[in-house]
Amino acid sequence: MKILFVSSEIAPWVKTGGLGDVSAALPLALKAQGLDVRVLVPAYRALWAAFPDATEIARPHFLGGQLPTCSVRETITPEGLTLWLVDHAQSFDHDGNPYLDATGQNRSDNALRFGLLSRVAAWISSTASTLRWQPDIVHCNDWQTALVPVFHRYLSAGIRPLSRTLLTIHNLAFQGIFPAYTRSELGLPEAVWAIDGVEFYGALSFLKGGLQHADALTTVSPSYADEILTEPQGMGLGGLLHYRKDALTGILNGLDTTVWNPESDPYLEPPFAAYSARRLTGKKQCKAALQSRLGLDITPKVPLCGVISRLTEQKGLDLLASSARELLHTPLQLALLGSGDATLENAFCALAEEFPGRCAVRIGFDEALAHQIEAGADLFIMPSRFEPCGLNQMYSQRYGTLPIVRSTGGLRDTVRDALEPDGCGFVFEAPTPSALQQTLLRALEAWRDKPSWRTLQKRAMRRDFSWRTAAKRYTEQYENLLQSPPTSDIPLSRAVARH
Ligand code: ADP
Ligand code: GLC
Repeated sequence: MKILFVSSEIAPWVKTGGLGDVSAALPLALKAQGLDVRVLVPAYRALWAAFPDATEIARPHFLGGQLPTCSVRETITPEGLTLWLVDHAQSFDHDGNPYLDATGQNRSDNALRFGLLSRVAAWISSTASTLRWQPDIVHCNDWQTALVPVFHRYLSAGIRPLSRTLLTIHNLAFQGIFPAYTRSELGLPEAVWAIDGVEFYGALSFLKGGLQHADALTTVSPSYADEILTEPQGMGLGGLLHYRKDALTGILNGLDTTVWNPESDPYLEPPFAAYSARRLTGKKQCKAALQSRLGLDITPKVPLCGVISRLTEQKGLDLLASSARELLHTPLQLALLGSGDATLENAFCALAEEFPGRCAVRIGFDEALAHQIEAGADLFIMPSRFEPCGLNQMYSQRYGTLPIVRSTGGLRDTVRDALEPDGCGFVFEAPTPSALQQTLLRALEAWRDKPSWRTLQKRAMRRDFSWRTAAKRYTEQYENLLQSPPTSDIPLSRAVARH
């Protein structure tokens, strides 16, 4: 079976969050299941730097609209994954964040940039393609690729789609909403401008178009799949998702055990150290090394809490910011790495100034430090308001760093409270500073009981979060899809996205 996996990020080259990690690991896991996988991503500058010799294999051009002619280039990663790069310099050959410009604003041409990525995927999987490889399934991810099924439905006369489409929702908070005039710029016909097309409150929504037209929908945890069928978690699309619920499945993400493994993590060079569930001594060394790197007091006697996160409303870190001052008066250290909302950045930086040696804050994106916090901390805090899956709580369990999480989405599905049989984390329900604070105090109490703490750590480190299970579930989904009629054969729904 041939799979074209389309994404706007791929770690380690282009990553703003979990999507980058998933787009690097899942295709490899699918390959290990025997599938023939190609990953289509934009030719960002970082990818050019890594693969300067990528060779041109096609030059699609599109009639109507303003999508530019581009080329598709092929290269192979050191892990043996085939990448197809959408090469259009003006759109993608930039430094830094894939979505934002140098001033931190969304790029003004994002609709056309990701419209182009989607259009190229639709071209590759249609009878118009000049490539000799046509996918059975196009696996789309998030709004940036959600127009693939829409383009499939409205291909020019005589051109047919050759593939089924599956759209994975990694985060409903990002929908790709643009002004109405974008429709003609993208070369989409007037017929898409309908309640069962891409129109959403007078604007054009990439994600809504994908949710309407994809043959199958998945999201990244079973709990999130349930939560998004109703508001507020449906983020305005709950009605449509409910209408399509038979096509929607929750498949829990995995973690890449080659990248996130305390026994072989290249970021744990001395003074950090490797360790395993059997030999935890290296973890103590990692704690001291992290304290030293961040200017925290170097002591094993105080529990160290880690946070690595986008600082946004979603992640609930305002709950921590509100209770941290009080908490930092108890014996506790906090190491936070993140960036995002300026108010939160400032609040945490002010705490670091107020509590030198106890609280260290690094604003920015730092892959090495992220690994070192996972290894050096005792506890990992993730108080998300909503969380489609979340990867850090899985990474932290693998590193014997017990997670404190709010019970939502993928956090609910991957962390069991220490009070339950086989539990090895700390879970709270209410999105309030006091619920977080009480749970943190409960976790600190547990940390003081060293023998039972070690039991919890070992239990956490031995949990199987590998991608194999998810890859099997996706393979089943692809197989089912190939046996059912395409959504494009079914009359357009009368689904109401509004309530
Ligand atoms: P989301 O995708 O919603 O941000 P996930 O938990 O799924 O959340 O994935 C976040 C990924 O991004 C993890 O690999 C995490 O380590 C990484 N990450 C987040 N913020 C930073 C940062 N400031 N520096 C380095 N890595 C980060
Ligand atoms: C999104 C979600 C996160 C998920 C990631 C990968 O960014 O916010 O919960 O883990 O995608 O699927």
